[in-house]
Amino acid sequence: MIIKKATLKDKENLVKTVEELIEEDKNLDHFSPHYKDPKYYEEQYIKNEKYDVITLEEKQTITGYIIGKKKTNNIYTIEMHYVIPRKRGQGIAKKLKKALEEHARNQGFKLITSYASIDNHASIKLNEHTNYKQETIGNYVYFKKEL
Ligand SMILES: CC(C)(COP(=O)(O)OP(=O)(O)OC[C@H]1O[C@@H](n2cnc3c(N)ncnc32)[C@H](O)[C@@H]1OP(=O)(O)O)[C@@H](O)C(=O)NCCC(=O)NCCS
Repeated sequence: MIIKKATLKDKENLVKTVEELIEEDKNLDHFSPHYKDPKYYEEQYIKNEKYDVITLEEKQTITGYIIGKKKTNNIYTIEMHYVIPRKRGQGIAKKLKKALEEHARNQGFKLITSYASIDNHASIKLNEHTNYKQETIGNYVYFKKEL
């Protein structure tokens, strides 16, 4: 298993996970259109220095990724977190979160934040189980943790 920051070389593999997200979202319609646009991943996330894409790769397949964003000098925020459906419940999201937190800490960030819609049970549990403080405002739950 390899956990590392994605580069343009990982583009093709990353696109395969985007295809899984598109398939999953056909009936759900949970994700904003840009999360289903491979070009957006390349231009906005991999090439843009404001973002870090961390992937977890098993047997040359990316089974999960997490995207972090440098929000301010001190605050780092989780933009997206995804594990392909057949690999869920095996601790992949937790490993990715830990790697991103370490990456943010090493860059000097003091706080990491994220949010989820109130009906995203898996994401809320994941944040609870990784010691994030949470606050519900309207239809969203906001998370934060000191680094
Ligand atoms: C949220 C998501 C990333 C979790 O990935 P995962 O690899 O299955 O999560 P993990 O196996 O690392 O689980 C981490 C913790 O969350 C809990 N958890 C994860 N999914 C859960 C679920 N569906 N129900 C209850 N608890 C859940 C686990 O119990 C685990 O805690 P523990 O190890 O202390 O028992 C995954 O479900 C996903 O990709 N969902 C679709 C995309 C999404 O909604 N992303 C978040 C956007 S805000």
